[in-house]
Amino acid sequence: MRLTVNGTAHELDVEAEMPLLWVLRDELGLTGTKYGCGIAQCGACTVHLDGVAVRSCQTRAGDAEGAEITTIEGLGTPEAPHPVQAAWIETQVAQCGYCQPGQIMQAASFLAGTPEPTDDDIDAAMGGNLCRCATYPRLRAAVRDAAARLREG
Ligand code: FES
Ligand code: FES
Repeated sequence: MRLTVNGTAHELDVEAEMPLLWVLRDELGLTGTKYGCGIAQCGACTVHLDGVAVRSCQTRAGDAEGAEITTIEGLGTPEAPHPVQAAWIETQVAQCGYCQPGQIMQAASFLAGTPEPTDDDIDAAMGGNLCRCATYPRLRAAVRDAAARLREG
């Protein structure tokens, strides 16, 4: 199968049923995307398909064919971070960091469609991404900061 990840096409000999998360981590070595629950309940595995946040643990690789798949490795670079990443750094959101790639991918997808979110919008969009370190106040602050950065362009 042919999957396009972070702008690069890959020919892969994997079953269509394989979770996209395993393809990213085990076949392509993109370990920024994390395995948490495996049952679409925590958000640690969040990536984008054509800009839309999905849970890669419950996305069949075959269903990602033809889409632009973006992982945390493809969102920005250390030299030119995505505005959401820049806000995360400024706010120093991470504690252990395990959930944070998924949080950032969720926030980036959400803000792309909701440039002026209310606090309730943020809670609704981010509430399904769990953080065992309870960084939630900093997460909310970083999403607000990221929204402002995106509006400023
Ligand atoms: S690992 Fe996919 S939602 Fe938890
Ligand atoms: S920063 Fe540790 S789980 Fe979220």
